[in-house]
Amino acid sequence: MNITYYGHSCFGIKTDQANLLFDPFISPNKLAEKVDINTIEADFILVSHGHEDHVADLIEIGKRTNAKVISNFEIATWAAGKGLADGHPMNHGGNWKFDFGNVKYVNAVHSSVLPDGTYGGNPGGFVVKADGLSFYYAGDTALTYDMKLLGDYDKIDFAFLPIGDNFTMDINDALIAADFIKCDKIIGMHYDTFGFIEIDKAKAKSLFAEKGKELILIEINESITI
Ligand code: NI
Ligand code: MN
Repeated sequence: MNITYYGHSCFGIKTDQANLLFDPFISPNKLAEKVDINTIEADFILVSHGHEDHVADLIEIGKRTNAKVISNFEIATWAAGKGLADGHPMNHGGNWKFDFGNVKYVNAVHSSVLPDGTYGGNPGGFVVKADGLSFYYAGDTALTYDMKLLGDYDKIDFAFLPIGDNFTMDINDALIAADFIKCDKIIGMHYDTFGFIEIDKAKAKSLFAEKGKELILIEINESITI
């Protein structure tokens, strides 16, 4: 599958059957100035939790693309009220088989109010199986023992983990998380966007390399294939 980074925690993933977009926060992100949100394709938009830095462009992109919103019940309902009526509500521990593959909504340790103050349910992450691969998108989260369950259930081929510290795990906890989920290929997210979460990218990569793991930091607007 092809993965494009749009900055912060926003990724577009092209599977054989669908374009998935995760946590669209682009237009307020100065680091993502060169990304044109009007050209982003999306059949499904997966939203981990309600914070502004994960939903800022959700409604605009959702309306243009007619994408189906996959999120917790509260966020899917909120998005429906804003005009994205065709959403798919989930809650923690639940799976659903979509045409492109299977999605499970899993735990995150964080908070989740929506930008207008609406209750955003409890925050989560996703385990997605598509094209014969399985990946974990952690959303915003602390390191938690719950991650061990993910590694015990299934082989996770690669994972998106937050590494910016302050609001989420830092790089050291992300390394432990990678052990918990038994995965050596990590794509970093939720770093450098604002002052609280600036990191030393070279140091972060070498910390992973020292443990025999790979930390992939995709340049904004660039793509990789896994
Ligand atoms: Ni958050
Ligand atoms: Mn965040």
